[in-house]
Amino acid sequence: MTQADTPPSAGSAKTGTALPASIDAMQAALGAVRYVADRPLATVAFLAVRLGKPLFLEGEAGVGKTEIALALAETLDRRLIRLQCFEGIDAASALYEWNFPAQMIAIRTAEATGTAEDAAALRRSLFSEEYLIRRPLLEAIAPEDGRPPVLLIDEIDRADEPFEAFLLEALSAFQVTIPELGTIRAARPPLVILTSNRTREVHDALKRRCLYHWVDYPSLEREREILETRLPGIAPRLSREIVAFVQALRAEDLFKKPGVAETIDWARCLVALDAVAITPELVADTAGALLKYQDDIARIRGETVERLVDTARDAARHPDRPPRAFERTATP
Ligand SMILES: Nc1ncnc2c1ncn2[C@@H]1O[C@H](COP(=O)(O)OP(=O)(O)OP(=O)(O)O)[C@@H](O)[C@H]1O
Ligand SMILES: [Mg+2]
Repeated sequence: MTQADTPPSAGSAKTGTALPASIDAMQAALGAVRYVADRPLATVAFLAVRLGKPLFLEGEAGVGKTEIALALAETLDRRLIRLQCFEGIDAASALYEWNFPAQMIAIRTAEATGTAEDAAALRRSLFSEEYLIRRPLLEAIAPEDGRPPVLLIDEIDRADEPFEAFLLEALSAFQVTIPELGTIRAARPPLVILTSNRTREVHDALKRRCLYHWVDYPSLEREREILETRLPGIAPRLSREIVAFVQALRAEDLFKKPGVAETIDWARCLVALDAVAITPELVADTAGALLKYQDDIARIRGETVERLVDTARDAARHPDRPPRAFERTATP
């Protein structure tokens, strides 16, 4: 369609939403939509928007990789288009497909009613936009409303390498070729966020085109901020204990450490149970909100849970003490 030479920053000006003018402004804008970003994350988000470069986020599960795409879309007042990757995903499910049933109906109708001239016109119209099913990538490159969206390519590590190569090509030029229609090029490129849980390494060539950022588990203070942002009204003591417990738990030798998502889920459970403080019994009863493997749940039973609860309650009472308290003191 049209030539891509306008950076996405200018695009947003047209939508009437001012872009965050600094890293601080980006951090504040994300905070306003309830996403708590530390400074390094706010910096890459700011740069991705400013430079129009894709942002590649890698990290453990449940640390806010997907959520930042939602938050950025809201902050920038852009539509979010999500391409969820899975094993076996191919170009057709990412880009476009022809609406085969509708084409068949058109052919049958023409056969029943048409003439030879109609047949030629029909052949042309069968491969027009009318019969095109736009999948996320095409919609992001050529959005129907003309406004550059935020394109979330979620869990790219689940896709296989040929799909990654296809994406690399599409994201390099923000253009795609549909043989029957020609080359479609983004008038204004979308803001692209890619996420990976690192179940396999993503190819360097794709990473090279992106700003890379590792999203780590948040610090104790940051996690409390996240919890209190997501669950306003939670009692400060309970919030302190929950976060201190989860942070201590992450220092244990677990198959799958709890992410921020689990912290929030667990806190919701405790609030629903009217808990005012954590106890070993309460942790044991609700461990399934935090840990998703029976071996992990079994590993924190008994003495371990008592030690972790003590550590957490102590840390919550003395928030100024260094996080030395979270070091493991016993082997499970
Ligand atoms: N920095 C944050 N600020 C606010 N909420 C957060 C933050 N990080 C995580 N969350 C909360 O945790 C939930 C899970 O985050 P998200 O789904 O983005 O994790 P993820 O890293 O994409 O996990 P997965 O790898 O399992 O897909 C979010 O819905 C949100 O409620
Ligand atoms: Mg995710």
